Amino acid sequence: MFFLYDRVFRKCMCTRKDKYMKRVNKALKKYIEENIFPKYDKFYSHGMIHINNVIDNMLMLADYYNLDCNMAYTIASYHDSGLGVDRENHEYESGKILIQDKELKKYFSEEQLCIMKEAIEDHRGSRKTRPRNFYGECISDSDRDFDIKLLVKRQISTSIKHYPNYNFEEHFDNCYSYMCKRLNDEGKFNLWTNNPILAERRDKFQEEYLNKDYAKSIYKKEWDKINKDGTYDKILNYYEDY
Ligand SMILES: [Fe+2]
Ligand SMILES: [Fe+2]
Repeated sequence: MFFLYDRVFRKCMCTRKDKYMKRVNKALKKYIEENIFPKYDKFYSHGMIHINNVIDNMLMLADYYNLDCNMAYTIASYHDSGLGVDRENHEYESGKILIQDKELKKYFSEEQLCIMKEAIEDHRGSRKTRPRNFYGECISDSDRDFDIKLLVKRQISTSIKHYPNYNFEEHFDNCYSYMCKRLNDEGKFNLWTNNPILAERRDKFQEEYLNKDYAKSIYKKEWDKINKDGTYDKILNYYEDY
């Protein structure tokens, strides 16, 4: 019975994603797939799993708030593209890549491009002030990983890159304290839009994550897995993002 439900649920999710994706201009999509997605090839934490997730969230929000889905798709696709230039200021580098891309002028007005650039510049989760426009709020919220397994996978790899000599306990303390600094004054992980679909995901994630023993068990599983399957070495020696 569960498998049947799971299959039906997954089919509904796929149909919904396909429906959103169909609204994106085909030529624009092709251009981005061929010219922007390759920039993520050598990224692990910010690879295409992350980008596709952000695109899905962003298109869902575009549907919910009646936004321009070509703008939503493009913002999500470019938002981390500047990581290869300068990690610390990647939001500005990604914004630059978008605004300097002449091909996008075929699809968007100057005003739309300016909104998209500002949205990308304001996407960082560590940002304490509200993004300058609503697309910025949406991309910032779409960028959150309210899925404990996905977050742990991405976060532990960033920690390994920064601190290659840390043991598991040190990585866990580093990751967990970093995340807890993200809690807002109400003790919640911030959402600018407070979109009910994302808020429900956030609440479930938060309940799991703030159970420190449970969270630690997920970090440990991921740590054991990447040490066994060779990913740990690839994070250090092959992948380029932090
Ligand atoms: Fe980012
Ligand atoms: Fe991102």
